[in-house]
Amino acid sequence: MSERIEEKFAELRRRNQAAQSGGGAERTGRQHKEGKLSARERVELLLDEGTFEELDRLITHRATDFDMASQRVPGDGVVGGYGRVDGRLVFVFAQDFTVFGGSMSEANAAKICKIMDRAVQVGAPIIGLNDSGGARIQEGVVSLAGYADVFLRNTLASGVVPQISAIMGPCAGGAVYSPAITDFIVMVEGTSYMFVTGPDVIRTVTHEEVTKEELGGPMTHNATSGVAHFIARDDSDCLALIREMLSFLPSNCMDDPPVRACADPADREDHSLDTLIPPESDQPYDMRDVIHRVVDDGYFFEVHEHFAQNIIVGFARLGGKSVGIVANQPAVLAGTLDINASLKGARFVRFCDCFNIPLVTFEDVPGFLPGTQQEYGGIIKHGAKLLFAFAEATVPKVTVITRKAYGGAYCVMASKHIRTDVNFAYPTAEIAVMGPEGAVNILYRRELAKTKDGDKVRASKVEEFKHLFANPYIAAERGYVDEVIEPRHTRRKLITALRMLENKRDTMPPKKHGNIPL
Ligand code: HXC
Repeated sequence: MSERIEEKFAELRRRNQAAQSGGGAERTGRQHKEGKLSARERVELLLDEGTFEELDRLITHRATDFDMASQRVPGDGVVGGYGRVDGRLVFVFAQDFTVFGGSMSEANAAKICKIMDRAVQVGAPIIGLNDSGGARIQEGVVSLAGYADVFLRNTLASGVVPQISAIMGPCAGGAVYSPAITDFIVMVEGTSYMFVTGPDVIRTVTHEEVTKEELGGPMTHNATSGVAHFIARDDSDCLALIREMLSFLPSNCMDDPPVRACADPADREDHSLDTLIPPESDQPYDMRDVIHRVVDDGYFFEVHEHFAQNIIVGFARLGGKSVGIVANQPAVLAGTLDINASLKGARFVRFCDCFNIPLVTFEDVPGFLPGTQQEYGGIIKHGAKLLFAFAEATVPKVTVITRKAYGGAYCVMASKHIRTDVNFAYPTAEIAVMGPEGAVNILYRRELAKTKDGDKVRASKVEEFKHLFANPYIAAERGYVDEVIEPRHTRRKLITALRMLENKRDTMPPKKHGNIPL
């Protein structure tokens, strides 16, 4: 090779080396000391070994004020490109906190946008690893414009390809709105936080004292605000969790979810299901026990585990195929639907519907949670979201009523009337306008007030009501329930129904888009 060519090659290596080292060894050391991996290490760990193809490695910022011209780092604070997860194509960008605090500049926003545009064009998931001080202060409105460009792409990509955000460091100010638009947010314990305004501003404006962790730490957003869906122990746990989640998802909205070979027999019976529902209808039980006994290998990938625990959502497989599970949880708030449960369920149902993932609903719901807090908080509009989401969904939908299906909540929880394809009920199901006690109190109030023997009369009326209404047979006689099944057969019944529905096509009337009651 001639000396001139060698020099050109050396220049390329120098630039690549500069991009590789990001903000330098000292800042990377600080990152490690805080328990965080570098942006490059994160990308490598997320993707199948040796599959990362980096884009725009040599991009630099364009700012000239504040002495910026002399502080150019190739890559400009974000590492991105494409690679494979379990052999499937994904696009990824990782903010590099060692370069200007991972802040967003005009150039690195353009790099993220390029990645997102290409991902949408070829139909592959987008994974964003966030670790940033927000908008690049030195660039002013130009960096804000960069954020807005990303927000627009998040919005346009929504429902086209799955978008997953990991929060692996700071994520503050308007920057939170990119992850917020994406489908799932994972936060890392001990190192991540998200807030619109930090503790200092809050202290000045409202005189409230709150720590970063309390305000926007992983547990706050997993359990209280519901902004985040998962909490990870550390960076590698977070990246493993994202890999796992992708195994349930299709690459885009035109694709089917991946199928996994399944050794668990489709006709496996589980006799313990027959005795799992307690004999008294006010006794709690854990609906997860039903789910685990039914799905492939008992494996349930729960989403939003710490938020609104009166409803359970997550992914599992039935006969090797992904399903989205939505289930009331009688062990928490008796399984009632409240504002948070409605929001949690609705968002999950809509995700599954976007991405061709059949919905399996396990129902045991005594109704909506009563109270002024719920009414003032807008349970009417929030409950309507869950109803709207189930009704709108055109993916295969199968419901199993295990016990209570009362009132409006009966209609909401994927009832036959809102286009659910197959509705099963256990013999223990109780389908009625309300519970027997409530019904008797209303229907016989005057009569009961007049008689001296009120308690006895009430008890006998309750028994009569239970006999007449608290069963699945009136619904089955009308065809609102397709079949009353023995619980031990649940797995076989679900898999058979889902196989029948495999090629289901359903449509919505022509429209621009619906107007879900937000
Ligand atoms: C440019 C930034 C930066 C930023 C941090 N740095 N944030 N550079 N723009 N936004 C740089 C620091 O100068 C420092 O550079 C390096 O990153 C690490 O920052 P430290 O402060 O040393 O780190 P740490 O102590 O861990 O604190 C992290 C931090 C803090 C809490 C994120 O840096 C911080 O408060 N940054 C500003 C956050 C902010 O107000 N951003 C704008 C928010 S508004 P050196 O060279 O010393 O390593 C916003 C609007 C979004 O983002 C708009 C969307 C609509």
